[in-house]
Amino acid sequence: MNPLPIHAIGSVMQPSHPQPPSRATERLAATAAGLARAAELLRSGRLVAFATETVYGLGGDGTDDRAVAGIFAAKDRPRFNPLILHLADPDRAADFALMPPRARAAAAAFWPGPLTLVLPLRPDSRISRLATAGLDTVALRVPDHATARALLRATGRPIAAPSANRSGRLSPTAAGHVLETLDGRIDAVLDAGPARVGVESTVLDLTGDRPVLLRAGGVAERALAAVLGPIARDIDPDMAAGEPAAPRSPGRVLRHYAPLTPIRLDAVAARPGEALLGFGSLPDGGPAGSIRNLSPGGDITEAAANLFAMLHDLDRLRPAAIAVMPIPDRGLGLAVNDRLRRAAAAQASG
Ligand code: TXA
Ligand code: MG
Repeated sequence: MNPLPIHAIGSVMQPSHPQPPSRATERLAATAAGLARAAELLRSGRLVAFATETVYGLGGDGTDDRAVAGIFAAKDRPRFNPLILHLADPDRAADFALMPPRARAAAAAFWPGPLTLVLPLRPDSRISRLATAGLDTVALRVPDHATARALLRATGRPIAAPSANRSGRLSPTAAGHVLETLDGRIDAVLDAGPARVGVESTVLDLTGDRPVLLRAGGVAERALAAVLGPIARDIDPDMAAGEPAAPRSPGRVLRHYAPLTPIRLDAVAARPGEALLGFGSLPDGGPAGSIRNLSPGGDITEAAANLFAMLHDLDRLRPAAIAVMPIPDRGLGLAVNDRLRRAAAAQASG
């Protein structure tokens, strides 16, 4: 009798994109061929680290939830903070964000360059909800780096890219640094030599009444003030360190997305009036029409990719509560559960 082949069982759970830590990382040179290969990989949902003038970024298609989930998985990030979307040209910003006069002035003065602008997200933009962590704002930047811009142009998509390092490690300013922590976890690194600035971009929030500095970086506050007038500060020390680790104090400009509907965690099934956010195989019956499954096959990267979009969907139905089935506390499941627990807590505390 033939035993059931193990690989046949495993393939049921195999996600459509490769998972870290088990893929060969291609080393690409900043030549026409290297750029074409990097763009091809990005367009098919793969992860490519590339140089910018600040630090190397870990890029993925910012319109592809699975690619963005892959970024968090490769970095081993314990939480979903919103990512910067990188564009080839300042003109593209209006495709994804509302550009009030102040935003246009900042873009004209500092793009391309090490400045990230947080702007109101255009409701019709195709940006992944995971990339913005469910917020209705988006962080955009046009890097001042010829290879980066050539790659972005060839890709033709907004590219989500946090610094290309494992969570908690130093930001990389050379391709070798990227490989030190991400070799075997990403599809390629496009080597364009050392990064010139060496610190991350300045992050400036332009969604409120006046500009707010969220992260100090490559563009000095004084230079911003010369163009935009007085700048308020709301710098998060965790954010300045690059990898937020602790919950933010209330009142911060970066508010985390939370559904309006109460969240009930560790649910076995939906109670009457509740919607169900499932994971793996679902209980029989339940509220037809108000059920979403984060991952029928129990794939945690797929669950992460679907999290914010499905929460938004169910929230819009205004059920009595969203009952959430348990999600394993490993890998990206940690980040999924972190966000769900905080959404539940935000509800509990009003
Ligand atoms: O220099 C850089 O900015 C590098 C290179 C690769 O471009 N990228 C980078 O990305 O540092 P990341 O993801 O590590 O930093 C994104 C920063 C975080 O501080 C995040 O909280 C903030 O931008 N951010 C992103 N979207 C935001 C939003 N909608 N509202 C407020 N802050 C946001
Ligand atoms: Mg970083």
